Amino acid sequence: MDKDFDSIFTGFSKKQEELIPILQKIQNTMGFLSEDAMFKVAGFLQIPESEVYSVATFYAQFRFEPIGENLIKVCHGTACYVQNAQIITEALENELDIKDRETTKDALFTLESVACLGCCSLAPVMMIGDNTHGKLSPAGIPEILSQYFKKGGKK
Ligand code: FES
Repeated sequence: MDKDFDSIFTGFSKKQEELIPILQKIQNTMGFLSEDAMFKVAGFLQIPESEVYSVATFYAQFRFEPIGENLIKVCHGTACYVQNAQIITEALENELDIKDRETTKDALFTLESVACLGCCSLAPVMMIGDNTHGKLSPAGIPEILSQYFKKGGKK
C-alpha cells in the first residue's frame, strides 16, 4: 500500500458502510477516482472491485477522469437556479468550448454543476478553485476567466 493511500485510509476501520466516505476522501485528495484507487479501496474493505465500481458510478458526485488546473463549480441550488444558473453554465460552456462535467483540452478548466455552495445571497454563484464569484452575469464570464488564463499561463 503506498503512502497516499495509507493516509487516505487512516481513521477508517474497514467497514463496508465506509465505502462512500472513503471514495469522497479520495476524490477530495486526488481530484478523481482512478482504477487503481478503486482497486485499493476494494482491497482495503475486502469487497469485490465490481462493487466499488458500481457504487461509484451510481453517484453523480464522483469523477473518473483527472480534473483541470481550475475546477469551476457552478451552483445550481435553489437560490442560484432561480437567478438563472443555467445561463451561467451555458456561458461557461460557450466560452470554454466544453460541456458540463468536461475538461478543456489544455487541462486548464473543468466545469461542474453543483448543489448550494452556501453563499446564496450572492446568487448566482460559482467557485473557481477556492475563489467565490457571485452576482454573476453571462457578460461578465470572459473577464473572470481571463484572470485564470493569466494565472495558468495561457498565451
Ligand atoms: S443556492 Fe447557490 S449558493 Fe446557495
